[in-house]
This record gives sequence, C-alpha cells and structure tokens, in this order.
Amino acid sequence: MGRMYDFFASHQLLLAPMAGVSDMAFRTLCREQGADLTYTEMVSAKGLSYANEKTRHLLDLAQGEDVVAVQLFGHEPGVMASQAAWIEQAVGDSLAYLDINMGCPARKIVTKGDGSALMRDPDLAARIVSAVRAAVDHPVTVKFRRGWAQGQETAPEFARRMEAAGACAVAVHGRFAEQLYRGSSDWGTVARVKQAVSIPVIGNGDVKCGADAAAIKQQTGCDAVMIARAAEGNPWIFAQAKAALAGEHPPVAPTVEQRIAMARRHARLLAQREGRNIVRMRKHAMWYMAGLPGAAAARGKINACVGVEDFDAVFDELLEIAGAHA
Ligand SMILES: Cc1cc2nc3c(=O)[nH]c(=O)nc-3n(C[C@H](O)[C@H](O)[C@H](O)COP(=O)(O)O)c2cc1C
Repeated sequence: MGRMYDFFASHQLLLAPMAGVSDMAFRTLCREQGADLTYTEMVSAKGLSYANEKTRHLLDLAQGEDVVAVQLFGHEPGVMASQAAWIEQAVGDSLAYLDINMGCPARKIVTKGDGSALMRDPDLAARIVSAVRAAVDHPVTVKFRRGWAQGQETAPEFARRMEAAGACAVAVHGRFAEQLYRGSSDWGTVARVKQAVSIPVIGNGDVKCGADAAAIKQQTGCDAVMIARAAEGNPWIFAQAKAALAGEHPPVAPTVEQRIAMARRHARLLAQREGRNIVRMRKHAMWYMAGLPGAAAARGKINACVGVEDFDAVFDELLEIAGAHA
C-alpha cells in the first residue's frame, strides 16, 4: 500500500474522468499544463466484452501518453474482472491503475445498476472490487460520492468496505447521488473518508481554481486532488493548482490569444484522431471562448462547425473582435 502513497506523492493533481470530455486531446493539453495523471472517459465493461469498437476507441492513448488511469463501469463482478484483465493487456505500460465508477448518477447508468447505484449495494460493490483485484496486477481504485440518498452520508463506511475488499485508493466527490450536480460539494466528506481508511484518498468536487486545490488538501488531508468541470476550456487550472500547492504566486491568467491558440491545438489534436469530423470540439470551443468579447454571438457559428477550418474561421473572427476591443 505504501506504493500508492508514493505514487500520489508525485501525482498530486488529477484530471477527473469525464464522459464525452476527457478524450486523448484534452488529456494531452491538461498534462502539458501540469496535470500529473488523467483518467479516460468511463468505459463500459459490457461494451468491452462485446468487443464494441466505439468502447475500445475510448482506450486509445495519445502519442507519448505515459501515464493514465482507466475507469470502468458495470455491475457484474465476472464481466468487470475479465474486462479489467483485458484492459491491462491492451493499455500496457502506461496504465497507472484501474478505477471503478461507483459515482455516476446519470439515470441511464443507475437504472442498469451501474455507477452510484452500487452505493446502495455495498456487498455487490465489494464483490466487484475483490473480483477485479484478483484478475489484475495493477492497483484497483474506486470513485464514489458522499452517499446515495440526500442527507445520508455513507461514504466513510463505504470507503472502509472498499478498502477491505481490496481497493488501493478511493476518490470521493462530496455530493449525494440524488443531488446530481446541485448544491455544493462537502469537503467534510473527504475529510471523514480520510479519517476512515488507511489507503490514499483523492479529494474531488468544486475545486474551481488553483487556490481551491491547496485548500481542499489542507482542509481534508486528502492525498491528491481531482478536478473535473473547472478544467473544461481551462487546462491552465493545473498550472495554477501546481503553483498553489507549492506555495508560489499563481501564473498570470491566459490572454485571449493564448486561449484561442489552445482551442486551435485542441481542434488539431482531435482531428489527428477523428479526421474531418470533429463536432465534439463544439463544446470545448464554447468553453475556451466563454467570457470573450463576441463569444455569445459566435455560439451559433460554433454549432455549425464540423472540421478544423470551420473552427479556425470562428476563432479568427474572435481574435479580430478581441483586437478591436484592446
Ligand atoms: C461532463 C461530465 C462527465 C463526467 N463523467 C464522469 C465519468 O465518466 N466518470 C466519473 O467517475 N465521473 C464523471 N463525472 C464526474 C466528475 O468526474 C467529478 O466527480 C464531478 O464533476 C465533481 O468534480 P468537479 O466539481 O471538479 O466538476 C463527470 C462530470 C461531468 C461534468
């Protein structure tokens, strides 16, 4: 277990798994800005077991991507275990650990018994962890929430169960599943989970700026910090968090030109993988542009973009508008 403490001592800042967002292009940019480890988008164990190409595609790594955590979702211990073993072979040396999703509250996930539904069935959750653990050589971790039902915090007890079942670390988001993304994330949950277990704890939820990364560590004693939404269109948050953890002054915020340049690179990295059609760049483009002059008017145009040149044309216009405002 000391090995995981060593790992997180040098991997403090984590890009969270985000379905539809944390693809290899975005992971690359976050790593460049200082994320020590990124997670793949969650992968369906069932989908993998059917050799579904789209599902397998989620496990493609970026060039030079030398460390990644893969997140698996599902609820059948046997399927989870065999697919975890398959992932271990497929991802190879870059795999840091396998994570099991027990936090996703989306209806289409929980109605199948996956994601945060497992918080309602800790026995099954524990069986999944021990089955996966027995099937792979890599460490196995679990990501979950404060609890299932609003007001009923089960995370500390749940964390203990996962530890006993063989989890090597846990990540906790301080919202109840029933809360979805409403209200705020209770960092007290992270602190109570940390008190409850002796494995490393990754703190997550509402880390919105670099200073928050230092604050959640300080307030909860967590071993690493995981950032999701605040990184959207903002890979620089990792540089800011890195400075905050080191007690240094934050780097200056990116200029309009830097934001547009990052968006252009993002589009190109996506195109390297997906070819002509990079419609999934639309949401990223909106995030990079948020708050820039002319951004609101450009939304409609972004929603019609398909290829790199289309995005470039909108970015050119935004730069012109920004120049006029300067
Ligand atoms: C668009 C989106 C997709 C997400 N997908 C996943 C996922 O695939 N697996 C997972 O465990 N959590 C997923 N999450 C939850 C995040 O990993 C994280 O726990 C949550 O957003 C709280 O962190 P934040 O306040 O930094 O956003 C997702 C969140 C968002 C906003």
